[in-house]
Amino acid sequence: ASTTEVDVSQVQVGQSIKSVFRDQPLFIKRLTPEEIAAANDVDAGSLRDPETLADRTLEGHEDILVTMGVCTHLGCVPLGAAEGENKGEFGGYYCPCHGSHYDTAGRIRKGPAPTNLTVPDYAFNGDVIRVG
Ligand code: FES
Repeated sequence: ASTTEVDVSQVQVGQSIKSVFRDQPLFIKRLTPEEIAAANDVDAGSLRDPETLADRTLEGHEDILVTMGVCTHLGCVPLGAAEGENKGEFGGYYCPCHGSHYDTAGRIRKGPAPTNLTVPDYAFNGDVIRVG
């Protein structure tokens, strides 16, 4: 199985970038303090796919959100990982195919997608994340 390595020191606070993992889009986002607070303000138990931000990030790196850039509805690539793109009503990612809105933790909040954006297996090695 192939792996992807990304130097996340290149990702500015508040920026998302796109990479590729196993031929699929991969999003890497460095959350602002406000985006972290917004994610943690929600009662995870009330969500369609109940997960906290801490569940979806690695300990000590709660500001780095790594998800597949693949909508869990029917597989479109959501917007929000590039400058100026629509981040949707919850400030994370927005899938224009059928209107799924993901929050700053990549969790489904509105629209037809059944589950949160998938977090792949990854690990840090200094500033570099190795996915897969
Ligand atoms: Fe994203 Fe349908 S594929 S909302």
